[in-house]
Amino acid sequence: MQVVKTIEELRSIVKWWRGEGHSVGLVPTMGYLHEGHKSLIVKAVSENDRVVVSDFVNPTQFGVNEDLDSYPRDIDRDAALCEEAGADVIFHPEPEEMYAFGNCTFVDMDHLTKGLCGKTRPTHFRGVCTVVSKLFNIVTPDRAYFGEKDAQQLAVIRRMVRDMNFNLTIVGCPIVREEDGLAMSSRNTYLNPAERKAALILHKSLTMGQEMIEAGEKDVQKIKNAIVKQIKTERLARIDYVELVDTETLEPVKTITGSILTAIAVYIGKTRLIDNFTVKDQGE
Ligand code: PAF
Repeated sequence: MQVVKTIEELRSIVKWWRGEGHSVGLVPTMGYLHEGHKSLIVKAVSENDRVVVSDFVNPTQFGVNEDLDSYPRDIDRDAALCEEAGADVIFHPEPEEMYAFGNCTFVDMDHLTKGLCGKTRPTHFRGVCTVVSKLFNIVTPDRAYFGEKDAQQLAVIRRMVRDMNFNLTIVGCPIVREEDGLAMSSRNTYLNPAERKAALILHKSLTMGQEMIEAGEKDVQKIKNAIVKQIKTERLARIDYVELVDTETLEPVKTITGSILTAIAVYIGKTRLIDNFTVKDQGE
């Protein structure tokens, strides 16, 4: 497996693969890889002849007071995980390689990016859409793989691909959890032992919400109230949002009908964690 630092080199490798008739999968990441990322890479390896994992902490998707500088990085560890998972190339550019001096072009989106995480992170999805578009243009993959933990990101990218006519398939992959239910995230490393324990409230409250829906509750406000109440029992937790939205439009819903995403963002101490589940109304 190769670690590639420049766009030019990556393009020439992909060109060579294409000449050999190979299909190409892309797994975009910001590094500090865990089992969740590994599941994306393994799936990509099973569905494509060649797989590129991008490993780039993208500065444009961080707000001014966010954790760009402290975001965990460990390329050697990432390379070992990618190799084990069967990837062919890690693309690990410097920020100057991805954003040349004077870069002033961005990809932005209305509607879907305004609610949920977009409320407290108003420039985040512009950064995500921009870097993901760049990666699609550089790698020209047949398929690209994203985790369902970032449910809004997945919906935004699916919409961007549709709206901008990118010629590839987006593959969403299930959330991977620790044994005790905490959704895997590179940001879990910020949690001290007490916070790590407190973070279980995300999964606990969502499980309760899911059980309510499965038991037939249709009233979104009731489900929301119950989740909020449960989260508030945890002293170290501070709610950013609890929302039930249509999975495709991300518009808030009042009753459970169709395909519904229940998404939450909760600060545990200073660390902001997200989690979610999706249900399809039985009547659908
Ligand atoms: O999900 C992530 O890790 C990032 O948002 C992504 C898609 C790699 C873009 O930087």
